[in-house]
Amino acid sequence: MTVGSSSSAQILVDVRNASRHFDVSLPWLNRVLERKPRQILRAVDGVSFIIRQGETLGLVGESGSGKSTVARLLVGLYRLSGGSISIEGKPVESLQRPEGRSLRRRVQMIFQDPYASLNPRWRVGRIIAEPLVVHAKELAQAGSPVHDEAQRRHRVDALLGQVGLSAADQNKFPHQFSGGQRQRISIARALATNPDFLICDEPTSALDVSVQAQVLNLMKDLQRDLGLTYLFISHNLAVVRHVADRVGVMYCGRIVELAEKRSIFARPLHPYTRMLLDAIPDLNRTGPGRVAVAGEVPNPLNPPTGCTFHPRCPYANARCRTEVPQLQPFENEDLVACHGVFEGRLNLIPNSDSPAA
Ligand SMILES: Nc1ncnc2c1ncn2[C@@H]1O[C@H](COP(=O)(O)OP(=O)(O)OP(=O)(O)O)[C@@H](O)[C@H]1O
Ligand code: SF4
Ligand SMILES: [Mg+2]
Repeated sequence: MTVGSSSSAQILVDVRNASRHFDVSLPWLNRVLERKPRQILRAVDGVSFIIRQGETLGLVGESGSGKSTVARLLVGLYRLSGGSISIEGKPVESLQRPEGRSLRRRVQMIFQDPYASLNPRWRVGRIIAEPLVVHAKELAQAGSPVHDEAQRRHRVDALLGQVGLSAADQNKFPHQFSGGQRQRISIARALATNPDFLICDEPTSALDVSVQAQVLNLMKDLQRDLGLTYLFISHNLAVVRHVADRVGVMYCGRIVELAEKRSIFARPLHPYTRMLLDAIPDLNRTGPGRVAVAGEVPNPLNPPTGCTFHPRCPYANARCRTEVPQLQPFENEDLVACHGVFEGRLNLIPNSDSPAA
């Protein structure tokens, strides 16, 4: 089953039951001496979603819920422990192999901390030009040859202009720029190879609110102009509201709700989604559907049984404590993993205050 959108646009990314488990056990000898069992951390545990050409899927969830691990699986930086991921019908494993270079050119990632991801000893021109050197052959095959220094400089000029910086900025070093400008440089570098799909892992979280808005607007403009597809990761639902078409909510390595943005904000189904929404001050959600922010994220090495959210959930019952809820459609195309929703135990009052409704 493909999961997550009724639109007729072409499916670009297809993630099916993807898992990534980390073995975080002590070394063998310590385990034997201290009589400790092997410890497996299920960072991503059976995640499924699709992303259609030209859309933005937002992925939200608290720290440690597995968002960055999903991002790394999508670019082939981590191996899957189970399930499958394909981009344009090709398995993601091929991205790290020679035959996957052409696809790798078209899948790029933008990270949270632009300072850490930009080489401080390189001038900006070289930073942005590097992918042009690495993917010179693929760019030539795609009809955008960048063979020599002059062509590269010309292309870097154009990229800097596209992200609102000037051609003269090529000669500067990253530390000469503000946080927002550095993120613009990261975006220019990601755009250098003419990608189709950008994975944005908290790209604006380190920025001040006003700068954040400018960078988000730039990313939206670039999406419209270049026909880009985004996976946009953030722990902040307010940011996701600004950019996403659909939203996936992650908790303890699983997607607990996956729906159109409008539905998520107008009628959040999962109690965890409601909790995240109630943490946004300007949404002013009130009434019986309200779930106060409470409790702590569970220890990922010893997650709760059944629904992993049950220790924090005001609606939990005996079934919730033993049976894992599966992500399934509720009424329309919106998907939710919650026994309470399907048993009619939750008071699903639409949120009339929602600005997205
Ligand atoms: N390489 C690794 N080895 C062991 N555990 C890992 C590794 N990478 C991630 N984890 C663990 O997997 C879980 C999910 O981590 P991940 O970084 O994907 O979360 P996240 O949702 O991106 O969190 P944040 O919002 O803090 O960035 C965490 O418990 C984390 O400690
Ligand atoms: S399955 Fe039960 S515990 Fe989990 S969110 Fe739904 S009602 Fe709460
Ligand atoms: Mg992360």
